[in-house]
Amino acid sequence: MSTIVEVQATDPLMPAVYALRHDVFVVEQGVPEELEVDDDDKVATHLVVVSDGRVIGTLRILCHGRTAKIGRMAVSASSRKDGIGRQLMEFAATTASRRGAEEIILGAQLTAREFYKRLGYTEEGAVFDDAGIPHVMMRKTLQR
Ligand SMILES: CC(C)(COP(=O)(O)OP(=O)(O)OC[C@H]1O[C@@H](n2cnc3c(N)ncnc32)[C@H](O)[C@@H]1OP(=O)(O)O)[C@@H](O)C(=O)NCCC(=O)NCCS
Repeated sequence: MSTIVEVQATDPLMPAVYALRHDVFVVEQGVPEELEVDDDDKVATHLVVVSDGRVIGTLRILCHGRTAKIGRMAVSASSRKDGIGRQLMEFAATTASRRGAEEIILGAQLTAREFYKRLGYTEEGAVFDDAGIPHVMMRKTLQR
């Protein structure tokens, strides 16, 4: 049984969130450690999936007026392909909508773009590099 909670940077859950992101982005994907945590973490809303007291999934939301940006989407390797990512993204859309956002944008790693497409996101623009990983911007209009 897992639950999703919405927290800010000062929450006691955050060290476990950063530990999961470190495992996924730095260890698994080779993102430079100094780029993984940034100033946006201080102002973002973090969604956290907790299962049996363990953090197994996370993403962050940054709201800029009518546009919300999702980033740092990570599910622990042992919990993937079990619907956790989809649940997190659906929760994020509800959270963003509640805060007045009309659309969500995100930079998708090319290896994850099919995951986002299945959730209704469409690609736009050219492929770009972020932290050594090819990405493409994706966007979804939120239903009112
Ligand atoms: C991408 C990621 C978040 C997906 O999380 P997940 O919990 O495994 O996803 P879900 O089980 O909810 O998958 C939802 C659907 O997308 C599909 N899917 C998941 N990851 C996919 C991928 N990389 N490529 C294609 N399809 C994918 C699932 O099969 C499922 O399909 P369905 O609708 O037919 O059931 C996870 O694999 C992850 O953390 N990867 C490492 C970090 C990463 O790449 N983050 C994205 C940065 S942009």
